[in-house]
Amino acid sequence: ICKLEQNESLEKAEWIQLITGQTPELSDFLFERARYQAQKYYGNRIYTRGLIEFSNYCKNDCYYCGIRRSNDCVKRYRLSKDDIMECCTTGYKLGFRTFVLQGGEDPWFNDDRMCRIVGHIRRTYPDCAITLSLGERSIESYKRLYNAGANRYLLRHETADFSHYHTLHPEALSPETRQSCLYNLKAIGYQVGTGMMVGSPGQTAEHLTEDLLFMKALEPSMVGIGPFIPQKDTPFGNERSGTVEQTLFLIGLIRLMLPNALIPATTALGTIDPIGREKGVLAGANVVMPNLSPLSVRKKYALYDNKICTGDEAAECRSCLQKRMHRIGYDLAVDRGDAAEK
Ligand code: SAM
Ligand code: FES
Repeated sequence: ICKLEQNESLEKAEWIQLITGQTPELSDFLFERARYQAQKYYGNRIYTRGLIEFSNYCKNDCYYCGIRRSNDCVKRYRLSKDDIMECCTTGYKLGFRTFVLQGGEDPWFNDDRMCRIVGHIRRTYPDCAITLSLGERSIESYKRLYNAGANRYLLRHETADFSHYHTLHPEALSPETRQSCLYNLKAIGYQVGTGMMVGSPGQTAEHLTEDLLFMKALEPSMVGIGPFIPQKDTPFGNERSGTVEQTLFLIGLIRLMLPNALIPATTALGTIDPIGREKGVLAGANVVMPNLSPLSVRKKYALYDNKICTGDEAAECRSCLQKRMHRIGYDLAVDRGDAAEK
């Protein structure tokens, strides 16, 4: 941990030792150091992103994901451009200066349609950042969206171990393509976010080590990690969830490895522990992503079971999070929330 703090690289064996040697005492020590780093770059300010889940149609069939193509129990929806603009208007009034458009890989939202939406948000809210999370697309598509006004892109690498990747996804998806998308996005000029689920079926300390080494090499501006949580109508419906302890431990490690990164305390973390997001911040996270999607569609974007905040208006979510952050000595910022300079 001290080596990490001094910006030294760890060998594979050292990472594995750290991950497998996790104890409550070591975690407390790590979290204190991680908080120190987060505060050095961001003070006690927590950035917010307004999440707009605009489509739950998906052409992919990832084994873990609740909105996978083969899940017939899902009621599918798409938000219109007007619906999306309405979410942004509500969000802007509440103090959001970043909008995250996330959806399944839905071919209906082709480049023309997507660029129209991004362009409209860009012109209406020039002071806001636009983040996309649309999965894998061609480099041309990423370029068009960037030129239309998008600034950031979230694409979790999911796992850096190639054989583990194939156990989580059907054959049509490959880790090589996933990783090359991330490098393409970076080359275009996007601020890139990546990450993985913690405790996904079959995941080992070696796999997590590969994840850390991959992220160290990629140097993303953002890292989103959350526990894997089963969704009952998927092939992994009977698997066990990732743990709060391991997710927090990894947040702490990532904070020390990439000290100025933007790291969200995710909704998944808040789902497996009622104060998971607070614990995430106290382990080194500095971002929260409340939901701005219309209430009518919230329950339909069920990536995993028992997802929190599916019944709360955006305003309630923001004020609830504000209270939660105040309680632990932090404050929500009204800010685009770009990554701090290293
Ligand atoms: N289609 C886009 C993509 O592939 O990046 C964005 C949507 S996808 C549902 C967003 C993220 O949800 C995935 O990167 C995955 O890590 C996470 N996710 C999916 N199913 C999950 C589950 N059962 N538990 C926890 N996280 C899950
Ligand atoms: Fe949504 Fe608390 S964060 S209700």
